[in-house]
Formats: sequence, structure tokens, C-alpha cells
Amino acid sequence: MTARGSRSRSQVVAVYPGTFDPITNGHLDIIERGSRIFEKVIVAILENYEKAPLLNVAERRRLIVGATRSLGNVVVESFDGLLADYARSRGASVIVRGLRAISDFEYEFQMGLMNRRLNPEMETVFMMPSEAYSYLSSRLVKEVVALGGSVRGLVPTEVEKLIGKRVGRQRQRGIRARRGGGE
Ligand code: PNS
Repeated sequence: MTARGSRSRSQVVAVYPGTFDPITNGHLDIIERGSRIFEKVIVAILENYEKAPLLNVAERRRLIVGATRSLGNVVVESFDGLLADYARSRGASVIVRGLRAISDFEYEFQMGLMNRRLNPEMETVFMMPSEAYSYLSSRLVKEVVALGGSVRGLVPTEVEKLIGKRVGRQRQRGIRARRGGGE
């Protein structure tokens, strides 16, 4: 504890990696928790994402920057290649990952051990988001929006607006294509 009673942060730089397509309030919850513990949190967006993303990297980055503006020790970057190499290049010794449920565990455990093998100086730290977000994922957010449901309160307002527009446009294209095909 510092003289003023607030807890001091460790001098550790942490990387919080992900695809963030799009960022959700669950991700933000983890970023806020991380920013209270670590000296700096680098939110790192994976660039070479195999599946076709809804948002490009620049859009994802802009949304994360907007949503984390109030957190002075959070920066947003993108990376390509191995996470272990990227973290080393940024002087980070911790990788932060959110664990929502037991179902996340196996994949995260494998990834954590592989990353430790690739960079033995790095530790993976798992953090739990608020229970309110324990079921939340970017994939579900996209699915709900695509099917006309509301994701208010589950993603930042700017995310809600952009994916609403993007998914709406995709739906219109689909309707036009079906009409053109005589369905
Ligand atoms: O939260 P996500 O979208 O599941 O993030 C996955 C991510 C980006 C953390 C993971 O795919 C990753 O680290 N990719 C970089 C490539 C890499 O280092 N692969 C070996 C890790 S075991």
C-alpha cells in the first residue's frame, strides 16, 4: 500500500492478446483489472487471424483505444507471428488471459504451456471477468447482432453502432442476393 492508501502497481509490463473482433465488456473488464495490477498493459490485436474478421485491425484498434482512453497505463498495438516473440520484443514478462469457465481451461492451459516453452521468462496470468460477463464472447455478440438481437450493455456503445451497421449491410446484401437468385 502507498502512503495514500491506494495499492501500488507492480513494475511488470503485461500483454493482453486476442483477436478482439469485436472488443466486448468482458475484455474491458479484464483490461481494467490488469491495469490496476500491472505497470502497463499492452492490448495486442492478432493481425494474421485465419477466419474472415468482421472488423479490420484498424477498426478494432480504434474501438479499443476509445474504450480504454480513461486508463492511463493501457496501450493498444497489433502483432503478427508468435505471441511469445512479440511479448519479448515489448519487454513484457506476463501474458494476461481471461478465464470465463472451465470450458476455456483446456485451450488456455495448452496455450499457456506452449508460450512458456517458447519464452521461459514469461508467465501467463489468468484473470476472471465479472460474473456478469462470464458467458460473453465476441462470437456470440456477432451472432446475436446478425440475428437482430440487442447487445446493449455487453459491448461499448461505439462497438454496438459499428457492428450494427456492418452486420445490417451484410444482411441487406444477403437479402438482395437471395432475391436475385429467385428465392
Ligand atoms: O482471445 P483469442 O481471440 O482466442 O486470442 C487468441 C490469441 C491471439 C491469443 C492466440 O491465437 C495467439 O496468441 N496467436 C498468436 C500465434 C501464436 O503465438 N501461437 C502459439 C501460441 S500457443
